[in-house]
Amino acid sequence: MTINCIDRSNFKGEKDTLVLFAWEGEKIDAGGWLDSKKQKSLEETLKKEGFKGKEGETFLHLPETGDPCARIILAGLGKKKEAAASTLRNAAGSCVKVSKKQSEHIWVDLPKWPEKISNAQLSQAAAEGLLLASYAFTKHKSKDEESKKEQILKRASVIVEKPEDTGHCANGIKKAEALADAVVFARDLVNEPSMNKHPADIAKIAKTMANKQIIVRVYNRKELERMKMNALLGVGQGSSHDPYFIHITYKPKGGHGNSRKKIGLVGKGVTFDSGGLCIKTSNQMREMKSDMAGAATVLATLRACPKLNIGFEVQGFVPLAENMPGCNAYKVGDVLKAYNGKTIEVLNTDAEGRLILADALSFATKQNPDTLIDVATLTGGIVVALGDEITGLFSNNESLLQDIKKAAALAGENIWHMPLAKNYKSRIKSPVADISNMPTRPNSPSATIAGLFLEEFVDSKNWAHLDIAGSAWTDTETPICPTVGGTGAITRTLLEYLLQ
Ligand code: BES
Ligand code: ZN
Ligand code: ZN
Repeated sequence: MTINCIDRSNFKGEKDTLVLFAWEGEKIDAGGWLDSKKQKSLEETLKKEGFKGKEGETFLHLPETGDPCARIILAGLGKKKEAAASTLRNAAGSCVKVSKKQSEHIWVDLPKWPEKISNAQLSQAAAEGLLLASYAFTKHKSKDEESKKEQILKRASVIVEKPEDTGHCANGIKKAEALADAVVFARDLVNEPSMNKHPADIAKIAKTMANKQIIVRVYNRKELERMKMNALLGVGQGSSHDPYFIHITYKPKGGHGNSRKKIGLVGKGVTFDSGGLCIKTSNQMREMKSDMAGAATVLATLRACPKLNIGFEVQGFVPLAENMPGCNAYKVGDVLKAYNGKTIEVLNTDAEGRLILADALSFATKQNPDTLIDVATLTGGIVVALGDEITGLFSNNESLLQDIKKAAALAGENIWHMPLAKNYKSRIKSPVADISNMPTRPNSPSATIAGLFLEEFVDSKNWAHLDIAGSAWTDTETPICPTVGGTGAITRTLLEYLLQ
């Protein structure tokens, strides 16, 4: 979908759909579009139909001829005092569903906002909502008529009141396009069947990202053996598809930004998690093509850095393996020596994410970043604690915690601070190695334990860990994620963090 910005005098949507927003409990502000008689009749219709302007509510109105357009969608924003940019993002997203079968072009009248949110931010939120809601993963569907009809919406125009506002609005849309493009990239990778995205396939995709500002280095199995990335090799050895490791470096264009600052991003890339010899049940396995969502997020973020002109050096570290119970698979009781020299006793082959991250975090730490953030579909425990709409955030640094929370708020993504409670550390002591990959004691908090395990490999660096096991995948459609499957969670949060 292409999006542009216009002021009211350039409206040419007579045959299309116009979106007007409504606040709950307040009169519709259609003054610029309808005369007072028609506004009154619209108000009466809305009353009769029970439209209240609640968040998520939409109403399709077909005006009489002579009115500004063929269809008007009224989209509820909820109560004015609860308004946030995410309200507009979601409301714009809801309109896509209503209009997509009827209109090729929708015209979105940017609402007046009670709080101080700039026109650029409002336009960004609206455009993000439109773009993310238009997402569909249709690559593997045969092209029947019905699926063609679904895709009819091609263009959107965001309408501002005055011509002098169009510049800011266009900037907001440009930012939204870069962010949404990154999310789409991540969703596509997560939704792709595992059979098409073995570690080597993802390494190949990463290589295509290389350009003047992005350097991509891929390590194959032989090189990983030489580097002693034994935890990653251990997880990968039960599969007939070799593990890989990707190291990406983005450098800002010379002369701008604080290029001495360096941020490291690490993403879990298990291309399929069968559980290994500690095999999962068929129900648990259903989502496991998404176990590389952290990797997808990190690749998507790095790929968007040049477009968004990020002013820091950003490095991406992506360990890739398929966790399978092949005849050479690693076993319960095996001891793996990670890249930083620490030994790990494997008590469960299904706790593989923390093993490949142990190597990746140690390698990343050695590159001496100022801040290290990892993203991983790490534990079933975080799904129990926070469900499928909230990401768990763990960190050893208070100001990093605040920065990530701020970024998530801007992106409208839900995250929740979880404890790295030191008292639980003793539960991953091992009688034979330095540490074990799961606790044996009952009633252990699995997401926290996994966080504490990762902390062993970051050498006291400023570090945060985002557990996206719940948020990376959805089973229900939402306004801005209209398909069941990958959500691209945390991609926009990371980009907003880098933009701060
Ligand atoms: N990939 C899973 C975590 C997961 C669960 C992701 C549900 C998405 C949805 C991870 O590798 C795993 O299996 N973790 C185990 C660890 C346990 C065996 C210590 C878990 O959390 O159950
Ligand atoms: Zn697992
Ligand atoms: Zn896993």
